[in-house]
Amino acid sequence: SSSLPIFSQEEVSQHRSLEDGVWVTFKGGVYDITQFVSMHPGGDKILMAAGGAVEPFWALYAVHNQEHVLDILSTYKVGEL
Ligand code: HEM
Repeated sequence: SSSLPIFSQEEVSQHRSLEDGVWVTFKGGVYDITQFVSMHPGGDKILMAAGGAVEPFWALYAVHNQEHVLDILSTYKVGEL
């Protein structure tokens, strides 16, 4: 178990811009990916998931079904839902 804070969906949804921070959720984890947005190989498309779950988008873009993508995501974890 981790000692990271618990966030509500409401709190996550308030972080959907570079100004306010870009947060996403994945399998119950909350991630602040603000610093990764400019490094994303898929460009600004990543902002479509801002403030919500990445799963629906990753289901469409199967390039994310790789361990190294989860390794990257894990470095941005800030909490749990
Ligand atoms: C590619 C990470 C969200 C669209 C990639 C790659 C990484 C990555 C590491 C390169 C994979 C590889 O080629 O081995 C992430 C992370 C995300 C995220 C950490 C969320 C936190 C999204 C979203 C979309 C998206 C929400 C679309 C709505 C794409 C596309 C590519 C890509 C289209 C392929 C780019 C290309 O090769 O031309 N992403 N992604 N990504 N991503 Fe994302």
